[in-house]
Amino acid sequence: MSGFIIAVDGPAASGKGTVAGGLARENGLPYLDTGLLYRAVGVLSQREGIDLDDVEAVARVAQRLRAEVLGDEAFRTRGAGEAASRVGVHVPVRQALLAFQRDFAAQPGGAVLDGRDIGTVITPDAPAKLFVTASPEVRAERRRRQLAGQGEAVSFEDVLADIRKRDARDSGRDAAPLTRAADAVLLDTSEMTIEQAADAARRIVEAARARWEGSRQG
Ligand code: DC
Repeated sequence: MSGFIIAVDGPAASGKGTVAGGLARENGLPYLDTGLLYRAVGVLSQREGIDLDDVEAVARVAQRLRAEVLGDEAFRTRGAGEAASRVGVHVPVRQALLAFQRDFAAQPGGAVLDGRDIGTVITPDAPAKLFVTASPEVRAERRRRQLAGQGEAVSFEDVLADIRKRDARDSGRDAAPLTRAADAVLLDTSEMTIEQAADAARRIVEAARARWEGSRQG
């Protein structure tokens, strides 16, 4: 029997990372931002001069990926997000990253993972699933502010165009597209502050944990 796994999915800049990080702290669980894996594969491929449409070459980069490199700030830029979305369409890339994510989720005490296909593909049996979203405009403004804070000044219109393009690619791809698992609880944070979103997420997870503990005793 695995531990208590919290799967958090949602589109770019929906606030899922903030929500997932908060849940990990509150529940004393390790946290994996799986977008970082795809960002790392995209950026490291570009550094090697690999064309991001070259499935085999990009998949080899994914197979070689080591957790130790994930702290690189270069993976947090706008360009890295776009590169990640491009490499995420390749089935062999997703396969190469699967075992790492499943091993992380299988830690005895449980874990929190966020991404696009956690509740649908990586840990379909997770006892707690959230699908965090917000309107494209709200997400664009959040991402614009975050990028500005990192010293990357981009206009609202440009960020909104990025977000729409990424939504279309992430949801429209054949391999593990972004979609809400049937049993994931929808959390629309468009009208919420960070605190309100965190509170709502906490309540969803408390209810899921109570159900999970009840089912283990029964
Ligand atoms: O969560 P993020 O914005 O850092 O993710 C960047 C891109 O990586 C996203 O647009 C698509 C891809 N991705 C994915 O395909 N599957 C995941 N589980 C996480 C990210």
